[in-house]
Amino acid sequence: MKMSEKLVRAREYEKSNIVETIDGRPLFHVTGAVGWINDPNGFGMYKGEYHLFYQYHPYSNQWGPMHWGHVKSDDFVKWTRLPVAMAPDEKYDSVGCFSGSSLELSDGRHLLIYTGVSKRVDAEGKEHEYQQQCVAIGDGVDYEKVACNPVISTEMLPPGGNTTDFRDPKIWKEGNCYYVAVANRAADGCGQILLYESEDAVSYRLKGVVDQSAGQLGRMWECPDYFALGDKKILIISPQEMTGDGMEIHPGNNSLFVVGEAPDWIDFKRESMQQIDYGMDFYAPQTMRTADGRRMMIAWMQSWDTCHYASNEYNYYGEMTFPRELICENGEVRQQPAREIEKYYGDRVEYKGVEIKDEISLLDVEGRAFDMTVCVSDMKSDSVFEIKLAKDDEHEVSVEFDCRKHIIKLNRTRDGITADILAMREFPAELINGRLKLRLLMDRHSLELFVNEGRRVATMKIFAPVEAAGITFSATKPVVLELVKYDLEEKLK
Ligand code: FRU
Repeated sequence: MKMSEKLVRAREYEKSNIVETIDGRPLFHVTGAVGWINDPNGFGMYKGEYHLFYQYHPYSNQWGPMHWGHVKSDDFVKWTRLPVAMAPDEKYDSVGCFSGSSLELSDGRHLLIYTGVSKRVDAEGKEHEYQQQCVAIGDGVDYEKVACNPVISTEMLPPGGNTTDFRDPKIWKEGNCYYVAVANRAADGCGQILLYESEDAVSYRLKGVVDQSAGQLGRMWECPDYFALGDKKILIISPQEMTGDGMEIHPGNNSLFVVGEAPDWIDFKRESMQQIDYGMDFYAPQTMRTADGRRMMIAWMQSWDTCHYASNEYNYYGEMTFPRELICENGEVRQQPAREIEKYYGDRVEYKGVEIKDEISLLDVEGRAFDMTVCVSDMKSDSVFEIKLAKDDEHEVSVEFDCRKHIIKLNRTRDGITADILAMREFPAELINGRLKLRLLMDRHSLELFVNEGRRVATMKIFAPVEAAGITFSATKPVVLELVKYDLEEKLK
């Protein structure tokens, strides 16, 4: 394969600048080799392994002309780095290779579909950005962009479809047909998801509109995903410029599960909607199906509103969430961390029937990389229970359950943050049979919190130095606590 100068340069730059041993690097979350990353791309199986690509600007810790970085894994926990897969080296993607997805073709080749962004001058001499869908085919390491790119051009938009906001193709195959869902801005300026179909994965026709915001769910929708789960169809969207709505929708960028029916994939009938993640640092999720039939989801562990904070700390910036398994029961989507994490469990600590009131720590319950499940019972309806993590004299982050209002509050005000970025967020949580179950997955600079078997999930980045490893528990009125904690440092270091 002949490689472009831009791709050669990016691959070489990455090789000579990577430092894997930086202390702050997470142990089991994907980061870029060097420079900036955002959305996960092309998450899927290829030749029996899990491949993940990502939006990548290797040359600085800021967003820039997008490349596709690349890693693979056989268990979602340990990832192997592969060379940069794509650089913005063609006329149709000279501004960037934006987000997209992947598929293993039946002849054994690996197909990537992505958004090529370019600039064109219109009849009045004004320069505009154009977004079109493009394909590259490869062998799991090297990829060649096809000669017929763009495969879904701006000409193939429905009337009124915006040519600048037309991106993030998600491909899947059903029977002999390839489907691609693409985000677009409709004539009213709001998001819509378009569906294209093809027999050969390179020549497409428009099938129809899946769903539209029509002014109800924010403006542009980004990063669609669309799949069957249980007996429902789930449409994932990441709407921008949303107005806040109680604790369910926060202002700005959100990522939502839209649950519904669509026998033929188009004309989606919405039945309900769920916030995917109530934390501060989550956006642009994407899913894949494993060989054993699990639907796995991964996301960018960041949001566009806070994504520049602390970007100067190391020579890399940004990370992905840990992959989550999704299930849908009675129309409700639940998330759990990929079960493969259990292979890496180290020391186990267990406590049963501990009465908690004044702030205490428990012997051997500390650290910055662990999987810990805490069950709280016997809670008085007017009391508040709190866990503090990443704690030393100067730092802490807190997870608080307020039984008076049935609310969980994440608070990183005392996490060492020195800019006015979002430091607190609240979301609803219920006691189930009088108990609250919290699963806390921490990996040095992040916490993913799974509430009541993943009915609600919240993700936040943690900025306190890794030496701040204390954990305490307290309650305004006595509660009973059970706890199981597995260390994740030992086997993953
Ligand atoms: C979402 C997004 C995508 C786009 C990519 C560019 O975070 O804005 O819509 O393809 O990032 O990096």
